Amino acid sequence: MATTPTALEVVDGVDLTGRICVVTGASAGLGRESARALAATGAHVILAARNRTALADTEAWIHSEVRNAVTSTVELDLTSLAAVRSAADAIGATASAIHVLMNNAGVMFTPFSRTSDGFEMQFGTNHLGHFELTRLLTPQLAAAGGARIVNLSSDGHRLSDVDLGDPNWEHREYDKFAAYGASKTANILHAVELNRRLRDQRIRAYAVHPGVVATSLARHMSRDDFTALMQIVPSDPGAEKVDVRRDFAMPEHGAATQVWAAVSDDLADTGSVYLADCRIRDDEEGLAPYATDGARAQQLWDVSERLCAVPSAGH
Ligand SMILES: NC(=O)c1ccc[n+]([C@@H]2O[C@H](COP(=O)([O-])OP(=O)(O)OC[C@H]3O[C@@H](n4cnc5c(N)ncnc54)[C@H](OP(=O)(O)O)[C@@H]3O)[C@@H](O)[C@H]2O)c1
Repeated sequence: MATTPTALEVVDGVDLTGRICVVTGASAGLGRESARALAATGAHVILAARNRTALADTEAWIHSEVRNAVTSTVELDLTSLAAVRSAADAIGATASAIHVLMNNAGVMFTPFSRTSDGFEMQFGTNHLGHFELTRLLTPQLAAAGGARIVNLSSDGHRLSDVDLGDPNWEHREYDKFAAYGASKTANILHAVELNRRLRDQRIRAYAVHPGVVATSLARHMSRDDFTALMQIVPSDPGAEKVDVRRDFAMPEHGAATQVWAAVSDDLADTGSVYLADCRIRDDEEGLAPYATDGARAQQLWDVSERLCAVPSAGH
């Protein structure tokens, strides 16, 4: 497997003093590691997650690791649009401008369940909660005069396209693998459409595959699930087969690409691209064509607005 730098190596020499970065799911795994690296740049990092104790632990850990770190915490539960709106209000009260919004929080392969708004859990958490948060924070992103949105996706998007006619699994038998794949496809389509709509406001959006990383994301997986996954994840033609049971990175390295997406000068004036291993992946490298289809990105936006009951902006 390719060796990537650590997230801390990515920010070496980067000075974001005076900038504000928001990281969702900052209480664990890749979000926690990204928050530490962004704090090391001098940026004010707003840590958002749903567990108050875990947030406080993460904040204390960052301050023990990064001298003079500037952090705040905000409670955010993506399984409730009301909670997302409260979190956006709290973030807005702290930050009049946001330079980086890292939509990182996520769940994977959850047993069938619904969010408090009735959305399928993976689509609701991974996509719709972030869709609404991003919509509500767009004024602050525009006020930054140059901002980036980093959506955590996954090569797991190849497990499934989004069924735009049934995004919440109301008319099909639930498949937890396909539901995760659809939510990760939605993360890429969201970035595609964000970039189209917000480019003129100097806001760029990216989708990131962090690699296979040892975090608590696999908490819903059984041993059989790992074996099943090996059979169903389509691999790139000619590519070395990745065994998720053996070939994984630690979060220090796994967080590198999303931090690179947030800070790298190499990405100035580009957006809507799929990033992995701290570089832009091109279309032939494992990116499913349905995940970057502009027409489908617009359709998903409309569906998401309807589900979140957002008044049409006339686009
Ligand atoms: N790890 C990998 O190999 C891998 C590969 C591809 C893509 N990704 C993507 O990377 C992102 C981060 O995953 P990770 O590996 O760091 O997983 P993780 O260690 O499980 O961390 C996920 C974070 O999201 C938070 N979260 C979950 N549900 C939430 C909700 N309803 N509201 C607010 N926060 C919530 C978690 O908080 P709690 O602890 O309170 O649940 C935690 O802070 C995900 O989007 C995932 O799909 C990861």
